Amino acid sequence: MGKFNLDGKVAVVTGGTGILGSLYCRSLAEAGARVVIADIDPVRCDQLAAEINSTTGNGLALGAAVDLGSEASVKAWAAGVLRDNEKIDIIINNAATKSPSFFAPLGEFPLDDWNHVMGVNVTGMFLVLRELGPAMVARGTGSIINVSSIYGVVGPDQRIYEGSWYEELGGAINTPLVYSVSKGAVIAMTRYLATYWGPHGIRTNTLTPGGVSSGQNSEFSEKYSARVPLGRMAQAEDMVGALLFLASDASSYVNGQNIIVDGGLTAW
Ligand SMILES: NC(=O)c1ccc[n+]([C@@H]2O[C@H](COP(=O)([O-])OP(=O)(O)OC[C@H]3O[C@@H](n4cnc5c(N)ncnc54)[C@H](O)[C@@H]3O)[C@@H](O)[C@H]2O)c1
Repeated sequence: MGKFNLDGKVAVVTGGTGILGSLYCRSLAEAGARVVIADIDPVRCDQLAAEINSTTGNGLALGAAVDLGSEASVKAWAAGVLRDNEKIDIIINNAATKSPSFFAPLGEFPLDDWNHVMGVNVTGMFLVLRELGPAMVARGTGSIINVSSIYGVVGPDQRIYEGSWYEELGGAINTPLVYSVSKGAVIAMTRYLATYWGPHGIRTNTLTPGGVSSGQNSEFSEKYSARVPLGRMAQAEDMVGALLFLASDASSYVNGQNIIVDGGLTAW
């Protein structure tokens, strides 16, 4: 198990206070990493850091807020991260955004929404890598994990959204085109970086979660689960094993790959 150990490593997690991101931050700290929690709300970043520090007792988490939709914000944030940490070993590009009309039909989807989602999910990821990657390259070691989605790999089965409801998101849900396109771009970004920074000792991989149970109504959960060979939606915890594998030396020869954690949904 030594190869999974993250003692002494520094990990940056974007979208670090979200459903999956908060668990990633906690798990990385439990595995011994110092964790920089990067998300848009500074209060939530600091609150989560305090929570993780009090439960793990190792004081390894710290909040560092950033707006990934703004180049100036990412630049200032990255300068602070590089100043406050002697090195960066792991970057987890996990943030993704929704826009005001995220669930609008394609024929009515506003350009502003398209640009906003691409601006965070794709351009924001590029900015993080541009600002932090060279410091990794200079040290000749590091692991980058870019988070995609099954809908960056396959098209959504549109039938599963009939009768869907997600209270927290204000109603019926679907997967808009911009989400799939942004998540497909993530996989391309990983492959490019695997060959671009691989010769400098940096491994870049994609982690692709399947649909995570987080408040969807039972009609949606049942329709989704019927498509999954394992017969259920993912729990956030299902992602942690693959995350720690990719982050750690346990995956020392894995580069440019996409680990799909979807219960087999994309197997047929
Ligand atoms: N939950 C799922 O079912 C699922 C399935 C497949 C893939 N994913 C992917 O996993 C990742 C995490 O998903 P999640 O379910 O935890 O989502 P989430 O919405 O809970 O978390 C995303 C986080 O990104 C942050 N964020 C959004 N815009 C930002 C910005 N401009 N600057 C900084 N941070 C910003 C949000 O504040 C949020 O905390 C996403 O990339 C998502 O696409 C999730």
